Amino acid sequence: MSEEFTITDISKKLGGFGLMVNPNAAEFIIKSDLDTNIIIDAVSDSIDSGSTIDIDTIKNIVNDIDDTPDTDKNTNDDIDKEDVGNDSDKDDSNNISDEELNSLLDDNTDMSGQEELDETFKSDTIEFSNEEDEEDEEDESDNNNKDDLKDDLDEEPERSTRQEEFANEKDQEMGEFINSEFMNPEQSLYQLENVIEDTEEETTIVNRKETLDERFPEWCDTMFNRKLPDIKPRVGVTKGYDVEGDITGESRGTGDFEDFRQIFKDRHDRLTKLLGKRAGNVHTVSDINKRTHGGKNITVVGLVWSKFVSNNGNYFIELEDPKSNETLRTVFTDEDMKDVFEQVVPDEVIAIRGTLSDDGGIVFGDNEFRKGRPPIMFPDIPRKRSSDGPDKTTKAALISDIHVGADEFFPTYWNKFVDWVRETPTIEYVIVAGDLVEGIGVFPDQDEELTIVDIYDQYAMTGKMFDQLPDDVQIITSVGNHDTVRLAEPQPTLAEEFTKYFSDNVDFVGNPVNVNIDGANILIYHGMSINALAEVVPGADADEPTEVMKLMLQKRHVAPVYGKNVRLAGEEKDYLIIDTVPDLLHCGHVHKYGQDKYNGVNLVNTATWQGQTSFQKSKGIEPDVGYWATVDLSTMDVEKYTVDDF
Ligand SMILES: [Fe+2]
Ligand SMILES: [Fe+2]
Repeated sequence: MSEEFTITDISKKLGGFGLMVNPNAAEFIIKSDLDTNIIIDAVSDSIDSGSTIDIDTIKNIVNDIDDTPDTDKNTNDDIDKEDVGNDSDKDDSNNISDEELNSLLDDNTDMSGQEELDETFKSDTIEFSNEEDEEDEEDESDNNNKDDLKDDLDEEPERSTRQEEFANEKDQEMGEFINSEFMNPEQSLYQLENVIEDTEEETTIVNRKETLDERFPEWCDTMFNRKLPDIKPRVGVTKGYDVEGDITGESRGTGDFEDFRQIFKDRHDRLTKLLGKRAGNVHTVSDINKRTHGGKNITVVGLVWSKFVSNNGNYFIELEDPKSNETLRTVFTDEDMKDVFEQVVPDEVIAIRGTLSDDGGIVFGDNEFRKGRPPIMFPDIPRKRSSDGPDKTTKAALISDIHVGADEFFPTYWNKFVDWVRETPTIEYVIVAGDLVEGIGVFPDQDEELTIVDIYDQYAMTGKMFDQLPDDVQIITSVGNHDTVRLAEPQPTLAEEFTKYFSDNVDFVGNPVNVNIDGANILIYHGMSINALAEVVPGADADEPTEVMKLMLQKRHVAPVYGKNVRLAGEEKDYLIIDTVPDLLHCGHVHKYGQDKYNGVNLVNTATWQGQTSFQKSKGIEPDVGYWATVDLSTMDVEKYTVDDF
């Protein structure tokens, strides 16, 4: 049995030989005890190009292989294409033969050969039957040239399977950095364990907070040995808050591949339901692949498996149903689709409306809006008209990325924030979107840029800093990639060994979470995916984080792209889906202030309290230091503050 193959892999491999395969036949190949490559080679050797292979054919071929002497079978592991058949026709390049193209594009499967092509492409126009039109939409014609489309169908995007990606991650060696900025989670944990071991004696200090003054006199003098302004009484409007979607204490993942697959299945199912509300009657890729004839206008929904622009300028998107591993290609031929095509990212769930080819092999996408609906639809959020927050004015202060412990943390800036909160009675909440501390082992040679090299001291110092905020201000802290939790998202919150340095008015939550304060709903997400989205969407820029945060809302997912710098933890469900439409999305991570609104939802990125690091300098990144925002929970009005104002 070859576990690394999926039905899609088998389909693509046999497609390279001009063969089509029924899903149950492909499944039989995968489940066979024989080597999958041997079966594929035998099939390609014995079946004529252009044929569709059913399960009986496969069973006969497997029986024939079983009947051959073992000595012959053993040599098949290293078998060459030359040994199997015609070397010029049977390579792995996924070439699609004229016969397959015909079967993909023909209106009438009873026709044959050139007659079919001539019929399909007469006057260089592809026409589709509109019988049984499920959405009462008109016939579409497409001016695509046959040869252009054939070339396009021959193209194959470079994309490894998720299984390969997952295996590659698991194979990361200790001590080998992924890139110049981050270590992988195992490496971070390894280094963390070493540091904890090295500082075991120090961690036994009972009252670590009280000795900070002796060990870090400069910072402590600046922040703690000064006259603080009197605390003004809070307005006391809110009664408390609830948290939704927190992975803390709920993680069930065991780290195996099935857990990992499960999050994509859950993502597909839940976002398909959301898309159904927007797009009407939607069909999964598996539904479409079961059809024996096309010619219909349909809306298909699926996980984006790959996308690419062909040499002829056509836009291809391959959708996947993660339950069955089946895929379906869609193509758009109109240049006007470029902008929306560029917004599509791998691993997100979208709906595409178009016309199904007669054999159901490909969807030719519509090129225009119909009934107000675009041909490519994202789950998106409905327009938010008002929140259910409290009646009277009360506010939350929003901050992130304090990075306590880093050389470049600015104690004098922090003092200004502390003083302002103490003197502002409307501030009932302080919400921190992660990266409380600088952490350890986050990037190579990080210890050379640390004032506080002990992770416990970093949290103890943060706890002492928070002690200066009023006791009756509720502080809610999420976590980021610099905090001492797993790097893979969703992230649970900090362990008790770190939270014990904080007072009772500080609550700890995971990343991401929805915090509902008397009806005002704030989605807190640290923002690791901002870089990933900015990398794959042309025009998006991590320096303008709210533009990227709009994409999260459109895609109803805070981290739709798997890979890049975002790691996902296998869980029973996808915690990163935006189920509840928030009144405000609060992110950090990129150390740039941003404030905007999308469909009535406020977007705020609250920058940082850490000056430019050597890494940022090498990349030309200028952080926004000493920024915060307030949100009035009764009106959801957002205001920006900087230390320069004081
Ligand atoms: Fe940060
Ligand atoms: Fe971060």
